[in-house]
Amino acid sequence: MRPLWSFTTSLISTSMILSSVSAEMFDFHLVQEYHNSTTQEKICKDLGYDGLAIISTPEAYIYALKLTDYIRNVLNKGIYIGAHFRPEDDVTLWDDGTVPRSDSPFYVHPPAAEPSQPVARLDSWGMFRMGMNLRARPGICGKHKNYPTQSSGSTLQGQRLQTTTRETLSESQVSTYLECAVMCGAVHECRAAEFNSDLLTCTLIGQYKSTGNLGHPRITTYIRKTF
Ligand SMILES: *[C@@H]1O[C@H](CO)[C@@H](O)[C@H](O)[C@H]1NC(C)=O
Repeated sequence: MRPLWSFTTSLISTSMILSSVSAEMFDFHLVQEYHNSTTQEKICKDLGYDGLAIISTPEAYIYALKLTDYIRNVLNKGIYIGAHFRPEDDVTLWDDGTVPRSDSPFYVHPPAAEPSQPVARLDSWGMFRMGMNLRARPGICGKHKNYPTQSSGSTLQGQRLQTTTRETLSESQVSTYLECAVMCGAVHECRAAEFNSDLLTCTLIGQYKSTGNLGHPRITTYIRKTF
């Protein structure tokens, strides 16, 4: 049984081979001037971004925390981000229409869906919260298409997850474990992936409850970092 080893480095080199991804891919832009959410979104579009940044993956979240460190921790301000309450569906979604993952750092899950709290922000504690579109705050702009497929996680060689519940997102044919791990990074709900070296299958797993790992000679499991 091989110990856990850090996967990030090999993923970055594989990413370069795959050439659709590179090491630092989050095209986020911090607007430091203070405006309401509507104006921030307009500024983002005028700058060539699709709107406010969507922070639907753990990797994007880590990057957004770094980018806003000074504003949150020194200026003690929240920052507008790209999620809105949608009155027509009575739900709060990311601005590309994706449903926030249950482990994303909103204070409640699902996030508040109320007409009085239509816009989202990253608050000074580093949590997501819905609120009024009133106060002027900084904002983060982002691109919504070709969302980065960077992911980081760890590898369990020769082991599979023993789960009491698991949500299978997809199963597909791949040739390598690294391809499987990169696929997991491209799907915002993906939390783990199992590569079977006999069948050359990659199973992407969403929410799961694990009771540990089981040895399995042909399975390599990718455990993606969570929020
Ligand atoms: C946002 O700010 C702009 C510019 O100050 C203003 O015209 C607009 O009414 C504000 N929107 C909301 C929803 O408060």
